[in-house]
Amino acid sequence: MVASNRLPVILKREADATWSVEPAAGGLVTAMEPAMRRRGGIWVGWSGSPEVGQRELERALGSELEERPYEMRAVGVEEVVHRRFYEGFSNQVLWPVLHGFPPSSATDSHDWESYRDVNRRFARVLARVAGPTDLLWVHDYHLMLVAEELRALGMEGRIAFFLHTPFPRLPELKKAPHHQALVRGLLSYDLVGFQTPRHESNFLEAVDAIGVRAVEGNRWAPPEAPPARRRGRSGHFPISIDFDEFAKGAESPRVLDRSTRLLRELDGRALILGVDRLDYTKGLPEKLHGFNRALRRFPELRGNVVLRQLVVPSREAVPAYAETKARIEALVSEINRQWGGEAWTPVDYRYERWEREELLAHYRIADAALVTPVNDGMNLVAKEFCAANAGSGVLILSAFAGAAGDLGHSALLVDPGDGEGLAHAIGTACAMPRAERTSRMTTARRSVRHRDVHRWVSGFLEAGGRVGAPQ
Ligand code: ADP
Ligand code: F6P
Repeated sequence: MVASNRLPVILKREADATWSVEPAAGGLVTAMEPAMRRRGGIWVGWSGSPEVGQRELERALGSELEERPYEMRAVGVEEVVHRRFYEGFSNQVLWPVLHGFPPSSATDSHDWESYRDVNRRFARVLARVAGPTDLLWVHDYHLMLVAEELRALGMEGRIAFFLHTPFPRLPELKKAPHHQALVRGLLSYDLVGFQTPRHESNFLEAVDAIGVRAVEGNRWAPPEAPPARRRGRSGHFPISIDFDEFAKGAESPRVLDRSTRLLRELDGRALILGVDRLDYTKGLPEKLHGFNRALRRFPELRGNVVLRQLVVPSREAVPAYAETKARIEALVSEINRQWGGEAWTPVDYRYERWEREELLAHYRIADAALVTPVNDGMNLVAKEFCAANAGSGVLILSAFAGAAGDLGHSALLVDPGDGEGLAHAIGTACAMPRAERTSRMTTARRSVRHRDVHRWVSGFLEAGGRVGAPQ
């Protein structure tokens, strides 16, 4: 059984009172959906609209729900509670702090209460549907307290957690109100998984700091159980994508057709691609500054390259996101005014969602991808680009993305805060001989194929299956 804030679909009520359903965007869904399709199970989460529960989900999806190889259970929450939980504590306290940014000062104790409340409701739904031998797999920062709530309801089975975001060092973590309660809550899980060894060791440092008994290496005695009864442990499990889905999808006739048309539209110009959810962690202003510098430094790029930057709308009700969007758009206008003209627009900015085929066609033909988060748990876009690219694209990747662990040898690694370094990497990518591009991309593809999401799921479940037993 899987629980995450978001289900893989977003339900929206239209003006005529019918429901529209669209796929949810984001790394968690991209990774987990193919895994659930292959393995089956029950996915518990939010339907994307406040107060919309199981009944509406069933009505909106109809027979499509039965055709899915896994079941879905929607957790309905009142609008005000959900807003405080999602926009408030989750995305104005936890999200920034986990990524090393200060929390918003606009949060208050009601946000925290709502966070606890929603975690409790998820626990109640899980307790109702879970069998005694089920392994419950809870995902991401929205649901850190679910195991603690489940234990309070008497659940004794195995419960595992995976954090998709980074986990910060102690001084950053301490900026989150209630951080000690959150760390303590995580100790009720039998297994707590992180993207990288660094995030895991930061967590163990936090466990140590709250003075929990009997921490030995990466194991602990959960607060609510006598030490001899069970042990929890942590681990690191770098997430990935369904390689075949992206690689084969990029060769489908429709994607090939779209790729051909895209190449025609580009008219011989090189395509540098950016694909990011709207987020201040994604380093979008930094990327634009770097591109601007590259145009200044390498005159041969002018008129010959286009940075097509897709920004996928996200969390627009949170003020920091609206501010980030305004900043990005001002920079795009400035660059285009400074360098562009009738015949050439240097930054082709799109604020929209693309269908998977559109995304694949872009990944396939891009000469380079610019993936420059200032901090990112993994960043699956980097892996998707490698899986879907036709073979000689260059990945320019932030050293602060978890993906640098898997792709650091084949990518050009950059510090997004270093504009000069970023400009240099763009110049290097554009001038790189074809043989070197191909060799780097071949290595990258091999790595993503070898460690794909199905292997990640097996590794996690295997570790999850071994924990929780009395020792
Ligand atoms: P995050 O989880 O922070 O959003 P990731 O890079 O790990 O960051 O994941 C982003 C995911 O969103 C990728 O799997 C990407 O394919 C997906 N995505 C990007 N653009 C779109 C889009 N227009 N529509 C749907 N999904 C998208
Ligand atoms: O960990 C990143 C994440 O929170 C994922 O859970 C999710 O895939 C993505 O960001 C999208 O965010 P949201 O669910 O807030 O739209």
